Amino acid sequence: MARVVVTRPINPRAAELLNRHEVWTWPENRTMPRGLLLERVADADGALVMLTDRVDDEFLDAGKRLTVVSQMAVGVDNIDLDACTRRGIPVGHTPDVLTETTADMAWALLAAAARRIPEGRDYVLGGHWREWDPDLLLGSDLWETTLGIIGMGRIGAAVARRAAGFSMRVVYNSRSPKPEVEEKTGVAYKTLGDLLAESDHVVLTAAYTPETHHLIDHAALARMKPSATLVNIARGPLVDPEALSRALRSGEIGAAALDVTDPEPIPADHELLSLTNCLVIPHLGSASRGTRLAMATRAVENLLAGLAGRQVPWCANPSVYSRDG
Ligand code: DGY
Repeated sequence: MARVVVTRPINPRAAELLNRHEVWTWPENRTMPRGLLLERVADADGALVMLTDRVDDEFLDAGKRLTVVSQMAVGVDNIDLDACTRRGIPVGHTPDVLTETTADMAWALLAAAARRIPEGRDYVLGGHWREWDPDLLLGSDLWETTLGIIGMGRIGAAVARRAAGFSMRVVYNSRSPKPEVEEKTGVAYKTLGDLLAESDHVVLTAAYTPETHHLIDHAALARMKPSATLVNIARGPLVDPEALSRALRSGEIGAAALDVTDPEPIPADHELLSLTNCLVIPHLGSASRGTRLAMATRAVENLLAGLAGRQVPWCANPSVYSRDG
């Protein structure tokens, strides 16, 4: 029987798979306080963590017995993968199961921002709707426009597939061209600058790394069309929030929809929240009931494999298995 720390309540159907182990779960629906986390992880063999927990040298120093860390998310920018690898600790994550749900959300945000749905709702709720008005809240079309996708991993490809339904041309930028995706979905690789200049709508799906920090900055926004929509479904710090506020205020771009922000959560008095052409939601990309159960289940499966000394099936640092010695 191994000792396990779970840093947030997870779906009971997934949690029960851990029955054979001694499990301690932080019972509250908020991030586990850091001090308590470091205390609890001290005698744990495995940890099931959330993207709001920082797994770094301090965490790993505290968790001397850890043989596996399993995160209930696909993105692992909160985890120092190199530090885990150096200590021989595999890190599980949850790719695939959230791809389609997150791509759906990218489209929901894109349609909402481009067609000004939140503004329409506010208009109705504010009692302003007196009659049909041919000039009311005119937005930007999606159909037969150009969609630019930055990051062409699983989620980027799923966003691209959906564009066929809107007869859109799709261009993309990623660390390297992806010929297999180009063949399957007909997308075309562009430099970042060309993508920004040509796209009517830009969706960010890239991983957050030191190289992608504030990838969308003043210069990038200045290249975009004044009518363009920017959607961020990846990680907040891909976008410089001050530069985005300025671009939205000055009409350098048309609208933005953010599932993720920098910082996260975004303070209620942040300027972006005062802009009618900016839609912000609280990191809900994978938030469907079915997908969150699938994520929790996958996270538990990774944890169980690591605890049993088996290879973690969805491993974010596979090089941990090919280290010398
Ligand atoms: C992830 O998995 O990385 C998302 O941001 C949460 O679904």
